[in-house]
Amino acid sequence: MTPRRTKIVATLGPASSSPEVLEKMILAGLDVARLNFSHGSPDEHRARAELVRTIAARHGRFVALLGDLQGPKIRIAKFANKRIELKEGDRFRFSVTHPRDAGTQEVVGIDYPDLVKDCSVGDELLLDDGRVVMRVDAATADELHCTVLIGGPLSDNKGINRRGGGLTAPALTAKDKADIKLAADLELDYLAVSFPRDAADMDLARRLRDEAGSSAWLIAKIERAEAVADDEALDGLIRASDGVMVARGDLGVEIGDAELVGIQKKIILHARRNNKVVITATQMMESMIHNPMPTRAEVSDVANAVLDYTDAVMLSAESAAGEYPVEAIKAMARVCCGAEKHPTSTKSGHRLGQTFSRCDESTALAAMYTANHFPGVKAIISLTESGYTPLIMSRIRSAVPIFAFSPHRETQARVALFRGVQTIPFDPAVLPADKVSQMAVEELLKRNMVQPGDWVILTKGDSYHDSTGGTNTLKILQVGAPLN
Ligand code: G6P
Ligand code: MG
Repeated sequence: MTPRRTKIVATLGPASSSPEVLEKMILAGLDVARLNFSHGSPDEHRARAELVRTIAARHGRFVALLGDLQGPKIRIAKFANKRIELKEGDRFRFSVTHPRDAGTQEVVGIDYPDLVKDCSVGDELLLDDGRVVMRVDAATADELHCTVLIGGPLSDNKGINRRGGGLTAPALTAKDKADIKLAADLELDYLAVSFPRDAADMDLARRLRDEAGSSAWLIAKIERAEAVADDEALDGLIRASDGVMVARGDLGVEIGDAELVGIQKKIILHARRNNKVVITATQMMESMIHNPMPTRAEVSDVANAVLDYTDAVMLSAESAAGEYPVEAIKAMARVCCGAEKHPTSTKSGHRLGQTFSRCDESTALAAMYTANHFPGVKAIISLTESGYTPLIMSRIRSAVPIFAFSPHRETQARVALFRGVQTIPFDPAVLPADKVSQMAVEELLKRNMVQPGDWVILTKGDSYHDSTGGTNTLKILQVGAPLN
């Protein structure tokens, strides 16, 4: 049996909150459940988080929880009659002073005081993820005057972006700050920050996370044109985070869909080179909101992300509000497994010609080099505190499964997002030192993951007590032989 390596993140929502549906989703292969703080109340998120943990535990599965902060999405206010219909050539205004609930066919309020300052004549504004497009003709002290280039319906609170990016709202709103506390309270494993501009935004999120007492790993959503403007901007954001999300919805609006595929490849590559996890998100199985089968184009999109070597692919509305949340996970799992058979999924050229900076990094990468070049190796065991050693290993393309052996609940859940990594609860500190290797290999034998005669790689450090970063040993062991 070859276990699936690419992980599945699915957003929970009204379509996926009952115990019955959640249980089916977990059995179908859900690895990370996403709580979207843009929708739903704290109580709803709490109930979903508890349900996921209870059901996963009942089935001996490890599912991580990811909270996704709403962020400073700039939105228009409301219309007197909920929605208007705009035609190409219509004139329209955005006003920072117009009453918030009284938009008309000509003007709507906007809760973004710097709008006029941030926009110039000739800029293109994209509303509702680009469904409506306008050009800025003039700016007064408190209004932008525009001409509609692409018409369509426009309704209450729709989002607004500028082509090329650069609307500069700070990344963390008052609501986000409250939600960081909620994330701490729910002991979430990951926290995604929306619209970060640079490393400073992630540093602020990290400080607020620490103050709230959370140990969630921080995911930077890459969704602003500035974030991918050059390698320096992108790498700065990546290094300030524990992982990134290719947030293709807003990113596609800001940089244009033509650039998206190339940028996705670049974000994934750069994240992996920096030892970070990466999730590919948005519209991956969009048609499954209403259909039990994905289109061939969606199959191809998911497979492409797998070949790019993303850690995880993500479902949004498909699982949160769609008619086929369980089928969507099954379809993703199937397509991931298929794409993983392709030779480019296992051949590694990772960081060839680069130097390493740490002992644990060097040991982890040496383990992968051995695993990929010694066909007898059927599994890798990594004794880990935080999950960091298996994280580094899983940056490398390989077909050999990586097992994160850890005594900690947080680590067991966290590694659910890492490509090619599964967890096995294991505490070396309570075992006689000369029995650790033997007992670790027996855990794999018990689960039928290896057979007598197979080779197994094991990494560890000198100490078995709280020694994150201490990995310095690589053993190559034969299953069935006496080990120590
Ligand atoms: C386990 C091992 C230690 C090792 C550590 C690495 O605790 O017993 O010997 O140093 O994992 O943890 P890390 O969080 O760096 O992967
Ligand atoms: Mg977004």
